[in-house]
Amino acid sequence: MSEPFLIGENMTGGYGTGADILHGCTLAVEKGEIAVIVGPNGAGKSTAMKAVFGMLNLRTGAVRLDGEDITGLTPQARVGKGMGFVPQTSNIFTSLTVEENLEMGAFIRRDDIAETMAQVYELFPILKDKRSQPAGELSGGQRQQVAVGRALMTQPQVLMLDEPTAGVSPIVMDELFDRIIEVARTGISILMVEQNARQALEIADKGYVLVQGRNGFTDTGKALLANPEVRKSFLGG
Ligand SMILES: Nc1ncnc2c1ncn2[C@@H]1O[C@H](COP(=O)(O)OP(=O)(O)O)[C@@H](O)[C@H]1O
Ligand SMILES: [Mg+2]
Repeated sequence: MSEPFLIGENMTGGYGTGADILHGCTLAVEKGEIAVIVGPNGAGKSTAMKAVFGMLNLRTGAVRLDGEDITGLTPQARVGKGMGFVPQTSNIFTSLTVEENLEMGAFIRRDDIAETMAQVYELFPILKDKRSQPAGELSGGQRQQVAVGRALMTQPQVLMLDEPTAGVSPIVMDELFDRIIEVARTGISILMVEQNARQALEIADKGYVLVQGRNGFTDTGKALLANPEVRKSFLGG
């Protein structure tokens, strides 16, 4: 079997000296594909994302990107390697303007960011209209666009999103998913946690059901949606 583009393999660990939250959890995504992580509240989805991004000390396991072991790298070094992460909370600077948020996103770059910013505005036209407004004045869906746009400013090869559609209407969710599909089509891999499990699995090349820090079910999005056990226990029947 060939190596996935990004893999967090057999990850075990927790916060500080506390009990382990992850127990041999594995997550992976291929180049330009969408992998979706679903599971009950407290299952460890956000913790697993933080582990892949280097925000957790793993007791076992490894993270590899494009075949390179990056387990020992800081989050900032991982950004330098091509990873972008939109955390579940506090993912924008509310007092800064939309454009300042995008500029902050590009903090590691020393080259011209104008073209990337234009691409982000093309993906999310409303952000161009609102570029001089404080991000905190935007709607929930627009703030999530700012957060995704900010992460795209480093031109990542992998975009990690923790509940990008939290708190938005079904219409806004659909739009955001369409934009995420568009990003994946450009060759960027998407590793995404979602509470809107059904809708997210519909657009997923691969899906993971996490249960108590372990891989419960792993399959294509389509197969998970068709799996009676998954439907009954995790998708509301
Ligand atoms: N910063 C933290 N410090 C200690 N424990 C945490 C922290 N964040 C989350 N946890 C614990 O880790 C477990 C998994 O949480 P989390 O990864 O946020 O789950 P999910 O994202 O699936 O809802 C929960 O028991 C939660 O209380
Ligand atoms: Mg979470």
